[in-house]
Amino acid sequence: MINMTEEMNHPVPETEPARQFYFMGLASEILKKKTEEAGRPLTFCVETFGCQMNARDSEKLRGILERIGFIKTESEDADLVIYNTCTVRENANTKVYGRLGYLNSLKKKNHHMMIALCGCMMQEPEVVERLKKSYRFVNLVFGTHNIFKLAELLVRAMTEDEMVVEIWDRTDQIVEDLPVDRKYPFKSGVNIMYGCNNFCTYCIVPYVRGREKSREPEDILCEVDRLVKDGVREVMLLGQNVNSYGKGLENQISFAELLRRIASKDGLDRVRFMTSHPKDLSDELIHVIAENPKICRHFHLPLQSGSDRLLKKMNRHYTKSDYLRLVEKIRSAVPDISLTTDIIVGFPGETEEDFLETMDVVEKVRYDSAFTFIYSRRTGTPAAKMEDQIDEAVIKNRFDRLLKRIQEIGREETARFTGQCREVLVENVNEHDPSLVTGRLDNNFVVHFKGDSSLIGRIVPVSLDECKGFYYIGRQNGDAY
Ligand code: SAH
Ligand code: SF4
Ligand code: F3S
Repeated sequence: MINMTEEMNHPVPETEPARQFYFMGLASEILKKKTEEAGRPLTFCVETFGCQMNARDSEKLRGILERIGFIKTESEDADLVIYNTCTVRENANTKVYGRLGYLNSLKKKNHHMMIALCGCMMQEPEVVERLKKSYRFVNLVFGTHNIFKLAELLVRAMTEDEMVVEIWDRTDQIVEDLPVDRKYPFKSGVNIMYGCNNFCTYCIVPYVRGREKSREPEDILCEVDRLVKDGVREVMLLGQNVNSYGKGLENQISFAELLRRIASKDGLDRVRFMTSHPKDLSDELIHVIAENPKICRHFHLPLQSGSDRLLKKMNRHYTKSDYLRLVEKIRSAVPDISLTTDIIVGFPGETEEDFLETMDVVEKVRYDSAFTFIYSRRTGTPAAKMEDQIDEAVIKNRFDRLLKRIQEIGREETARFTGQCREVLVENVNEHDPSLVTGRLDNNFVVHFKGDSSLIGRIVPVSLDECKGFYYIGRQNGDAY
């Protein structure tokens, strides 16, 4: 444990993460004074929008805030509220503006309250301009590249009256070993890379998350070791395109090799990964999955569109038949694997024929589930300037037809394990019926069965008695471990 008061007598460290530990100490001192003034402990709430990367970043934000001494709460009626934002689609963006109005009303009733915004949306200059102009009650704005600097920025925000804004365009730094507060004690995300170089023409992620950077394999393996020692049984390896992991590292290593090394760790029961781009999915990867039962039988393989013409316009670098061939390869190497996908409806220029090609892939692959998105025009992306933006009513009609088939097929496919006994990693007591617990199979299917909180974080053999559409009702059929 670092002695914070002693630390503060020294000059501010220039290297990370020492610098941030110094500022955590300073923030603690300021917080103590504010707590005395308030006459009660001061609380924080971090709200996450968007994907698994943001969820993992939020765990890091919470870790830092807890180390400073704030008390965690789920309610936004807190003394410090941080929105970790997403901007992948316009509606994610709009939601944040809408909720800021509500936060302002809370702030008017609590003069201790501070509001901070961070994450992908903050990397858009027009967003920051709008905040500076019309949302002056926000105390702190920072981006995706300097998220590790929360403690340092918070010290400024706690001591300055003005809105503190710090956004970096890019970074080469990967700062690690800061405190983390995991949502689940028994499972964790692990970043293996940051950013994205793919520039799919509809997508804003490469602009707000920056260029692809892989972490050193030794650092990742050390982190996994530490997590396992701390009780973690399942890790999810995170990256926008995990298949291109290792590029740019001094000692090149493939994602398949990294996965093999992680899966060989004693004490770790399950390994997942997200997301895998079809364009660089290797045979080696399929082979490693097939050989290693610890690697979860779930493959999320975003399709986006089944039309070769649109895939080209999207800059995806594969064709419909490439994709179908991949699916066949995966299924023949790992029978029963669960396949899921992402699909965009209404990309500029999408014709009925293009859409039917997408429907055809859906019929052929028969996904267990899929995320379907209405195309959202993102400023600064090449697709935003394309002609032939599609009429809303046409998109809605296609979207409904797609969703209907996805759901029908998903129901039928999910039922295929009925009557089998499979292992469930229990996550929580069921919210609606406290006599049940809820967990996941390694293929990510959800299962509810009779049990109590002592089973949380344990792996339980469960008979999958009844499929209720997208989940199972089961029965414990063996000892938990
Ligand atoms: N890196 C991942 C996806 C990250 S974004 C990958 O390439 O698979 C998650 C999903 O959001 C994408 O797969 C895509 O289906 C969807 N998406 C991204 N940009 C979008 C946009 N402008 N409009 C609608 N959906 C979008
Ligand atoms: Fe976006 Fe494409 Fe990168 Fe995924 S791979 S984050 S869809 S640019
Ligand atoms: Fe959204 Fe950023 Fe993830 S834009 S989807 S939170 S990388």
